[in-house]
Amino acid sequence: MSPYANKPTSGEPTPDASESVPDDISSFTSSSQSGESTCGALNPELDAGHSEEFGELERHGLLTELSRRRFIQASSAAAAFLAFGQPLLAGAQETVNAGSVTLKVNGQSQTLELDTRISLLDALREHMDLTGTKKGCDHGQCGACTVLIEGRRVNSCLMLAFAAEGAEITTIEGLAKTSDPKAIEDLSPVQAAFLTHDGYQCGYCTPGQIISATATITEQQKGELSIVSWQSGQIDRPELSDDEIRERMSGNICRCGAYPNIVAAVRAAAKGASA
Ligand code: FES
Ligand code: FES
Repeated sequence: MSPYANKPTSGEPTPDASESVPDDISSFTSSSQSGESTCGALNPELDAGHSEEFGELERHGLLTELSRRRFIQASSAAAAFLAFGQPLLAGAQETVNAGSVTLKVNGQSQTLELDTRISLLDALREHMDLTGTKKGCDHGQCGACTVLIEGRRVNSCLMLAFAAEGAEITTIEGLAKTSDPKAIEDLSPVQAAFLTHDGYQCGYCTPGQIISATATITEQQKGELSIVSWQSGQIDRPELSDDEIRERMSGNICRCGAYPNIVAAVRAAAKGASA
């Protein structure tokens, strides 16, 4: 039986407005079930039964109890609608939230139809087949998803893909000197340094580490400062000391603890870049 079968008919007394079923819930549930013959308002037998019940309650001063029951019934109807109507709502949402976006990644532009709420990380991995960028925490805490936007480091899990439209995006796949590197000479200086200095173990954090190290070296060359620069008093184009490297790379976590070799790799790449 429909949970809305006890809807009062027009012939019934109306309970207090403060105790009646809110109009919005009423229309919400009845419109979702339009056409169902089980609705109490369309069922003479049920109507008669409910009028009788209503009369009894009225005689004993229990109208409030009837209203309470109606409220529970209406709440159940709303819950049922939400439970069974959810897939339809979800489908409608997908349509509403879809949009077209053009992303320029590693020099190549691609237009995609995406959910407007998708992160840049998921767009890269799930829709552009660029799986070099890794998902670690998906919360901006590990740095595995680091990419460059206009040369600056960004956690792609925290950025909406649509917010990156029009920007130059660089991922790990775009760092090498050639599109299909075959030898260490084909890699970028930082990639080569990570290989030479064994700057990884499982390699999961490595794409983010390499992207971050690439930006670290560029930032240092531009004379950008870190907290270590201020603490050490080296505020005029500071050298990329080990402390500077550790500080500037501190947003990239390595669960394997390959930090000593990562620092060595960044140091070597920075020296090569400044040589
Ligand atoms: Fe983005 Fe961890 S996956 S910071
Ligand atoms: Fe394994 Fe860094 S090399 S997480």
